[in-house]
Amino acid sequence: MMTHSTWRNRAASAILLAAAFGVVSLAVAQFPGREQPEPKHYAWSDASLSPDTRADLVIKELTLEEKISLLHGQGFGGNGGTTESNGGAGWSNAIPRVGIPAIQMADSAYGVTRGAASGRYSTALPNNLAAASAWDPQAAFEYGALIGRELRAEGYSMSLGGGVNLSREPRNGRTFEYQGEDPLLAGTLVGNFVKGVQSEHIIGDLKHYAINDQESGRNAVNANIDKRSMRETDLRAFEIALGISDVGAFMCSYNRVNGDFACENSYLLTDVLKKDFHFQGFVLSDWGGTHSTAKASHAGLDQEQPGKSFFGDALQKAVERGEVSQDEINDHVHRILRTIFATGLFDHPVTKQVPDVERGYALAQSLAEKSIVLLKNSHNALPLESAKLRSVVLIGGHADVGVITGGGSAQVDAPGGSAVPPPPAAPGANPMASFMRRQVWLPSSPLRALTAKLPSSKISYVSGDDLAAAASAAKGADVAIVFAYQGESEGTDLKTLDLGEDQDKLIETVASANSRTIVVLETGSPATMPWIDHVAAVVEAWYPGIRGAEALANILTGEVNPAGKLAITFPRSDADLPHPTLVTPPPASQPSRPAPGADISSFMATMAKGLPPFQIYYDEKLKVGYKWYDAEKKPVLFPFGFGLSYTTYAYSGLTVRGGETVNVSFTVRNTGKRAGTEIAQVYASLPEAAGEPPKRLIGWARVELVPGESKQVSIPVSGDRLTIFDEGSDGWKLVPGNYIVMAGGSSQDLPLHQQIMLP
Ligand code: BGC
Repeated sequence: MMTHSTWRNRAASAILLAAAFGVVSLAVAQFPGREQPEPKHYAWSDASLSPDTRADLVIKELTLEEKISLLHGQGFGGNGGTTESNGGAGWSNAIPRVGIPAIQMADSAYGVTRGAASGRYSTALPNNLAAASAWDPQAAFEYGALIGRELRAEGYSMSLGGGVNLSREPRNGRTFEYQGEDPLLAGTLVGNFVKGVQSEHIIGDLKHYAINDQESGRNAVNANIDKRSMRETDLRAFEIALGISDVGAFMCSYNRVNGDFACENSYLLTDVLKKDFHFQGFVLSDWGGTHSTAKASHAGLDQEQPGKSFFGDALQKAVERGEVSQDEINDHVHRILRTIFATGLFDHPVTKQVPDVERGYALAQSLAEKSIVLLKNSHNALPLESAKLRSVVLIGGHADVGVITGGGSAQVDAPGGSAVPPPPAAPGANPMASFMRRQVWLPSSPLRALTAKLPSSKISYVSGDDLAAAASAAKGADVAIVFAYQGESEGTDLKTLDLGEDQDKLIETVASANSRTIVVLETGSPATMPWIDHVAAVVEAWYPGIRGAEALANILTGEVNPAGKLAITFPRSDADLPHPTLVTPPPASQPSRPAPGADISSFMATMAKGLPPFQIYYDEKLKVGYKWYDAEKKPVLFPFGFGLSYTTYAYSGLTVRGGETVNVSFTVRNTGKRAGTEIAQVYASLPEAAGEPPKRLIGWARVELVPGESKQVSIPVSGDRLTIFDEGSDGWKLVPGNYIVMAGGSSQDLPLHQQIMLP
């Protein structure tokens, strides 16, 4: 930890060094505004005091106006930043009189956003669902730490990342920003992500709390769900993540839950989050997600973003009228201040730096290599061996120039602009719609990367726009690789998991021209594959980030053995989903935005008041993802936890020992010819009386094995992974009875079983 005195020592030695070269006066003269002010010492500067004590010392000094100024945003960041804004999605006030810094917030799900407007570079990592396929908490930490470092380098102090809505509805346009369908996996990974962000003394957040499981009508929808289902699924992921990370902030979501907007829902914010989960940080609203003053404040909202329609003057007046108490205000303020101390932001003021581009590239590539999932590989169509291949043709998906990214507020700008230029906007088009639907391609070219890896083969590219040309190129090549993609963005859902007629037809055409056809998918959600039996191999590359093509080339050529496993089920068709048809809002619940240039005040007023609700009934309840397909006995295309490798593994010797922690151990052996990493998974079936879906994930391990090697894997399973939520006692309980513990390589490949009786 860097204290003020070490900070001062470093500054002093820098000045001495500079003086030795005679540049001090020049530097000061040229950049008068950039001198670091000597940090002032306050009673709360003492880092040996607890964050709570430090926050209380500050609160004693603040006027009501100053307190209120911390409880709302100061407007959207603006493009490139103003004098006070750093150019991010929003910021909250600084109080220089008492040394409290502004909180400069930036969206940063898979990298720091809004770089283009301010001429900043940030690393675009593989998207979040991609990274989840590594099932690797340490990698999630490094992912978060990189984002934390780059936020700090770019002058930000808070990340708006940490999306962990469970994939109840895989057509959700933000599925790419989340961590899949299982609460233990998602919560563990995002918890480690936030821990990484906060290790850089940047405030982390978890969002969108809660049940914001689709984008269609997100500002109006009322999610109907019983408490037990909510606690064991979506909220469980948040709870696990909070336990791991001690995150500084929760962002409440746009939607309603069981009647109340999430940002004024006292069950979600107070009963569950603040009382039951013991969350000590602050709750900020999603942008425009606040709809009341006293109600929201009482319910537990601490900060309105990005403006002050409800938590500015209106809140001050509510206090003066006695409608909101001083204690309630102090609690909101305390939570914000203690977070500034607890994350170390106060003791480590943000200083700008040039982001370390090369370090970002290296991490982006290694994370992408871990996240790519090999879904099919008949007759060892992969890996590609240069010496045995005269020619390879890449078809479609702009594989000549780049890889696609996820859009919306999470959009990381492409260095040099999108590798595929966007089509010109239609005259009079809604600018918001184009912001949301804009597709951005990173300049990581599969054609270039594969050409480098296969030096003795001829590598070519055809666009796939012309089916006959694609078929003839495929016929003339040893291997044809079709690149298919599905863009995804905040604000809108996918209509279907299908890739669309054009892409499906292209794949069928190429497959009938060349029996060694490989499909590479760049999607943010599962995709359906009507052509699956006709192609030789399928690789899910997701939105693989700034070094995505290089990572993909290493996987395709076998330089890296694929190890990723799905964090989300790939169903056979939309018809197999819990809600075969997406629930969409009536027009009143999703009014179209006024045309550019038109008066938007009445539109904004309607939004602020809250749009009329429409209903979604999450009557699949606990059956999210694989739990649905298991319970309904619906066959799937690729199950949760599935992923192939260029080697094979065998499982044996399961032992399960009960106790407060259940200890599960077994042996995994590499039975093939290549070194690899197996993600070994453990599931449990609960006793019938528990009324649970057929099984749940209770643990996993990443096991590295050279050919022929065996390793004994031990996985401790804490008791809370086996409990259920009991609405009667409003708490968790372990149901006594027989549990079946299962281990293997995916949720549907579990060769080892053992029964254990738990009291
Ligand atoms: C999104 C949030 C985002 C915020 C600020 C909202 O539209 O839902 O995820 O953090 O905007 O950009």
